[in-house]
Amino acid sequence: MNTPTAAPAVRISDLHKSYGTYEVLKGVSLTAMDGEVVSILGSSGSGKSTMLRCVNMLEVPTAGEVAIGGEAIRMKRTAAGGQKPADRAQIDRLRSNIGMVFQSFNLWTHKTILENVIEAPVHVQKRPKVECVEEATELLAKVGIADKLHHYPAHLSGGQQQRAAIARALAQRPRVMLFDEPTSALDPELVGEVLKVMRTLAAEGRTMLVVTHEMDFARDVSNKVIFLHKGVIEEEGTPETVFGASRSERFRQFLTR
Ligand SMILES: Nc1ncnc2c1ncn2[C@@H]1O[C@H](COP(=O)(O)OP(=O)(O)O)[C@@H](O)[C@H]1O
Ligand SMILES: [Mg+2]
Repeated sequence: MNTPTAAPAVRISDLHKSYGTYEVLKGVSLTAMDGEVVSILGSSGSGKSTMLRCVNMLEVPTAGEVAIGGEAIRMKRTAAGGQKPADRAQIDRLRSNIGMVFQSFNLWTHKTILENVIEAPVHVQKRPKVECVEEATELLAKVGIADKLHHYPAHLSGGQQQRAAIARALAQRPRVMLFDEPTSALDPELVGEVLKVMRTLAAEGRTMLVVTHEMDFARDVSNKVIFLHKGVIEEEGTPETVFGASRSERFRQFLTR
């Protein structure tokens, strides 16, 4: 995992995304090298989730390119003048390199925590179940819920559910982890336990793209910070430059909110 290579773990080049005539992303470019943490900041509606969803191929970009580990997602033109993935098998293969954590956890409610965590490794990646159970048990211990293995999501607090969702994403052994406002749905007293897990992952050298409103996290943990405004990267740089000496008036306004 995180074997350094010349190719970035994630590279987004001149990404555009429109819904009908509404252009949400207007040419966004971003590179995350292996082991880097990139925080993505911005007001509601600025296109942060759309950007992450394009990386995970949950949305098809209108134009531009996404590459995972140096491999560009191949697209083909459609009759309507848009584009769509040219190769489903490539999408499935690349997607298993990407773990995603959503604001609303998205655990399967009818499966136990353990079943949630082993689902993709066993059924998608076709790894031996015994090995997956063993690894899932370790991951759940790592995120601090070893005692919840056989519980259903509804019996866990929001913070515990989100930590289970992080374990589930890690169980695929992804090269990159995407987090879309992972603490925004949590009661304030539960935010810390999830951030603590994320800080641990960052310290271990995980490659992470994190959409967040947690400014302390962005400042302390990121290698790079990006501020998205109306579908354009308005500001980017190290946390020191972005938080310390931002040239963007909009970003300074955003910070005071
Ligand atoms: N599936 C969709 N269809 C139409 N509009 C969408 C869709 N998804 C997002 N949008 C619009 O795109 C804009 C950016 O959304 P989003 O990426 O979710 O922003 P953010 O995550 O920064 O709050 C919003 O105006 C939203 O309403
Ligand atoms: Mg969003």
